[in-house]
Amino acid sequence: MNCRDVECYDAPVGIFLLGKNDAIDGGGANMHPALASFTFARGSRTVKNRCVLAAMTNKQSHSDGTLSDEEIRWLEMRAEGGFGIVTTAASNVSEYGKGWEGEFGVWSDQHVPGLTELATRISKNESIGLVQLFHGGMRAPEGINGVQPVSASENGGRGMNGTLSRAMSEEEIEAVILDFGKAAARCERAGFEGVELHGAHGYLIAQFLGAETNRRTDKWGGGIDNRWRFLQSIITTVREHTGPDFLVGLRLSPVLASAGFEINDALETVEMCTSMELDFIHVSCWDIDERVEYDGHNNTYTEWFAHVLKGRLPLFTTGMIWNAADAQKAIEQGADFVGVGRVGIAHPDWPRYLVEGSKSPDTPPFSPKQLSRAGLSSTFIKYMRAWEGFVSD
Ligand SMILES: Cc1cc2nc3c(=O)[nH]c(=O)nc-3n(C[C@H](O)[C@H](O)[C@H](O)COP(=O)(O)O)c2cc1C
Repeated sequence: MNCRDVECYDAPVGIFLLGKNDAIDGGGANMHPALASFTFARGSRTVKNRCVLAAMTNKQSHSDGTLSDEEIRWLEMRAEGGFGIVTTAASNVSEYGKGWEGEFGVWSDQHVPGLTELATRISKNESIGLVQLFHGGMRAPEGINGVQPVSASENGGRGMNGTLSRAMSEEEIEAVILDFGKAAARCERAGFEGVELHGAHGYLIAQFLGAETNRRTDKWGGGIDNRWRFLQSIITTVREHTGPDFLVGLRLSPVLASAGFEINDALETVEMCTSMELDFIHVSCWDIDERVEYDGHNNTYTEWFAHVLKGRLPLFTTGMIWNAADAQKAIEQGADFVGVGRVGIAHPDWPRYLVEGSKSPDTPPFSPKQLSRAGLSSTFIKYMRAWEGFVSD
């Protein structure tokens, strides 16, 4: 990447040249479908476009779980940049469910003032703010939480230096389910319009869903109709703790081989979810072009999820969507919303690249200077060095 690229990085289409709240004019008849508004059935809430900033851990918050100014600002910039939905990083609902340093928490009322500040700044930009709720389970290190990690069963988590989790007691399961409900209530009190339950990527909800990580013989284990009971109870409890208009969505991995969660489990879970009071399903593909053979057909993950949902719930999809053509493809596969991760780190105003005639967003590597201008603190930039090829030297 040379200096010219850096110079033109945010000039032609950047939020820095436009008023913060200017609507994105999608170009009339040729408007990109991801720029169309969408009205959720619950509360008739309308979101201005189908562009979703996917949850992204950025390690910028304080060790007591309170949000830092840096984390608030980086999310605010994405709301200013035109995302219809801004999802926060994964945030732990239980005090001992923290997965990594710099993660913000939603497990105590002490977190509400920071959450309120963040919710206010997102909604000020006419964007919908969602907090991603999770518990690390077997991936909540003892070195961070001071207690042995817990999970559905005794498991060794990735990066846990050999520490095994212990199986949760019935009381502990009920307590964590309640923690999800209370955390969602805090988010609503702070002014957020909804939450995304993090059932993907191998954290506690996914550990219950997977046959390898959940080897229980009680009502919480066994077939998928038992293994999903933890998730089902969380959805019910979150609903009981929040108002009728509050949005509740679920993020799932389509396949999580290490947990023993296969495509048939995912699709059965999705089907069962359609009978719950959910507002969306978010399939985390990592690559929307990836396909899986199932039931004699070879489809992309998004196509499979859309096939099961049949329009009963809106579908978000994420994974290697970089430009307008990728976003178009995601919608053609059956998604209602387009989620982006890394391109949204480098381009706070990514939805503007969907306007007809716009250039394609720059691709990695990005210089620390570029990333700093995109609102990343040095801590976040350091973290992004772990994502191969993202940051230039
Ligand atoms: C730095 C970083 C942090 C992430 N943190 C989370 C997270 O907290 N929760 C989550 O569900 N996914 C997380 N993801 C996954 C993204 O939400 C997204 O699904 C993934 O990056 C693929 O999308 P992309 O190809 O557009 O980046 C993270 C990804 C990145 C790059």
